[in-house]
Amino acid sequence: MQITVVGSGYVGLVSGACFADVGHSVTCVDLDEAKVAALSAGHVPFYEPGLEPMVAKNIKAGRLSFSADMTQPVANADAVLIAVGTPTRRGDGRAELAYVHAAARAVAKHVRNFTVVITKSTVPVGTGDQVEDMIRQTNPAADIAVVSNPEFLRQGNAIEDFRHPDRIIVGINEARARPVIKQLYHPIIAGRNLLIFTSRRSAELTKYAANAFLAMKVSFINEIADLCENTGADVRDVALGLGLDPRIGPKFLVPGPGYGGSCFPKDTMALAQTGRDNASPLKLVESTIAVNEHRKQAMAQRIIELCGGDVDGKKIAVLGLAFKPNTDDLREASSIAIINALQLAGAKIAAFDPQGTTPATTILRDVEYCDDPYAVAVDAECLVLVTEWDIFGSLEFKRLHKLMATPRIVDLRNMFDRAELESLGFQYRGIGLPQ
Ligand code: UGA
Repeated sequence: MQITVVGSGYVGLVSGACFADVGHSVTCVDLDEAKVAALSAGHVPFYEPGLEPMVAKNIKAGRLSFSADMTQPVANADAVLIAVGTPTRRGDGRAELAYVHAAARAVAKHVRNFTVVITKSTVPVGTGDQVEDMIRQTNPAADIAVVSNPEFLRQGNAIEDFRHPDRIIVGINEARARPVIKQLYHPIIAGRNLLIFTSRRSAELTKYAANAFLAMKVSFINEIADLCENTGADVRDVALGLGLDPRIGPKFLVPGPGYGGSCFPKDTMALAQTGRDNASPLKLVESTIAVNEHRKQAMAQRIIELCGGDVDGKKIAVLGLAFKPNTDDLREASSIAIINALQLAGAKIAAFDPQGTTPATTILRDVEYCDDPYAVAVDAECLVLVTEWDIFGSLEFKRLHKLMATPRIVDLRNMFDRAELESLGFQYRGIGLPQ
């Protein structure tokens, strides 16, 4: 199949590379010529495990190419995937659809034969109708079917998720699109019953409902963690017991410093707004957002408390800046709110992240960025684990103890062994543990 992907950001690039890897012929289109040049040379502009070698391999095999001009790629395509960003619109929290609309109009100009236009971007319910109207208005002769096919990839795990989806949601309003979608996903589903065909609106809403539900699970366990601390229970035991009920499930019950990333914060805001716009207030989603915002500030307060109520002039060492491990993405990361709050209280911040330092330098000012976890700890009054990168699981705590001014650890992911640290003389504070 000939596939054209419009937008070479995270979703577009991962989808394009993975579809090429299973044998389709893919062109990824992006307006940014410098990005197209870099990608054509095999350079991926962000960190995602396994993606760069996959891009290079498929360029070499002649299945993957990049272009700043969509004329031919769209004219030749069996399917065009729209995978442009839908960031939060300033002011009202709605999803910004300008890039989706621009992509729809541009695609309309170049389609030739019957083409399935697939929206992969996360878009509010009803956007597929707008995309279809725009294409038909721009080019009344366009022979298209517009499909909603939301993406459920997780950053840091995207290739694995793409290869082994638990479901593929496809919202179609026209039966003609069905065989094209089946052909597109044929190499991935390998005979399994993974394709769920729904209406376009149901597919669009499913994406937001899924992300909001997961975010709600995280906010729920974070609140339960606080209650555990105040009642002498242990959130790890509570989460285990909860998750063993198959109706609840064990995932997304790990308490932490609040969820971040490019999806949960943006999508919960947009869904809450959709609820307001459609006379269906989503009180649980609104609360999830409020709980998460409060959580980040509460984490800064927790650090200040362990430091005796005052961090003015004190050095705080931060391990992990990315919103989760295996990514260099800091969008809406809890580390930002926590560091800003600590700086406001007068703390001096040193930080280390295995991948996130370069993007952090443009977001977090007045931070001493270090090259390893030991350099960050020198003369620190407190070490704060924000992102649970694997490498932090093998830290040498005796060495850290010697380097720090005061051996204190705030472990916002319950990654470390509290008994071991306390036996070494650290003051330790985790999440949701008995005091
Ligand atoms: C999320 C969804 O999990 C994907 O299914 C979805 O496709 C994606 O958004 C998207 O819409 O594109 P992602 O943002 O990559 O994926 O990250 P998650 O693994 O979901 O983590 C989000 C945040 O929740 C992170 O800050 C993480 O630390 C936090 N989290 C997650 C917890 O604090 N506890 C948990 O138990 C799970």
